[in-house]
Amino acid sequence: MKVIHNPQKLNIILKETSRQKKSIGFVPTMGALHLGHLSLIKMAVKENNTAVVSIFVNPTQFGPKEDFKKYPRSLKKDIAFCRTLGVDFVFLPDNKIMYPHGYSTFVNVEGLSSLLCGASRPGHFRGVTTIVAKLLNIVAPSVIYLGQKDAQQAIIIKRMVADLNFPVRVKIIPIVRQEDGLALSSRNIYLNKEQRADAVVLSKSLSLARSLFKGGARDSSRVIDRMRQFINKKKQARIDYISIVDLEKLRAIKKIDQSCLIVLAVKFGNTRLIDNIIINTLRNKNYAAV
Ligand code: PAJ
Repeated sequence: MKVIHNPQKLNIILKETSRQKKSIGFVPTMGALHLGHLSLIKMAVKENNTAVVSIFVNPTQFGPKEDFKKYPRSLKKDIAFCRTLGVDFVFLPDNKIMYPHGYSTFVNVEGLSSLLCGASRPGHFRGVTTIVAKLLNIVAPSVIYLGQKDAQQAIIIKRMVADLNFPVRVKIIPIVRQEDGLALSSRNIYLNKEQRADAVVLSKSLSLARSLFKGGARDSSRVIDRMRQFINKKKQARIDYISIVDLEKLRAIKKIDQSCLIVLAVKFGNTRLIDNIIINTLRNKNYAAV
């Protein structure tokens, strides 16, 4: 496994890989790798001749009051982790090389980027799509692997890939959870004991929504109300949003009569957690079934 810091150098090596008709699987990350990242990386290794993981805590996707400075970093462990998984290249750029003095180009997916998490985190997705566009140009992968954990992010990146004609396939991998149902996230370490215990309410409220759906409930606002009541029982939880939206445009739907996404963001102290499930009425093969 090679650790490469320089974009041009990586680009030259990977161009040669592509010339030899070898497929490149790419997993972009911000490090602090956990078992959620692991499932993406394993898939990239298994399905391609060459697997590339990038580790870069991208400053442009953090708001001025967000946790960029204290975002967990565990570089040595992350590199060792990638090595054991059979990754071929870890791309490890720094801020100066990704955003040199005078940097002024940004990619923004209009509309989708200002909904849901975009409403609470203005500019966040603009930062995400900008860095992912840059990484796609540097790595030029055959397949990019993204987690359903960040469903809105995955949908926005899919839109960008289609709109800007990036020659890459987007694969979305199901959410990896802890035993009690909490979705793995690098930010879970911010939770204190009580908040961690209360945080299971995210996945439990989604299970509640699923069983309501299975029991015949189709009215989005009633399902959302039940979820809201359920979450509000937890002292530490402050709901940012709960929404039932379509899978492409992320527009709220009134009736659950099409495949859709139930998404929510809940704050515990300063820590904002997100989770989602897909209600699959059509068994869309691009998404994990309910
Ligand atoms: P990061 O939060 O490090 O996540 C990297 C990838 O891992 C994302 O595609 C995310 O959805 C996926 N992931 C995280 N937790 C997961 C879980 N529990 N189950 C399945 N997949 C999970 O997302 C980012 O970094 C950044 O925004 C990035 C795309 C790298 C751009 O900077």
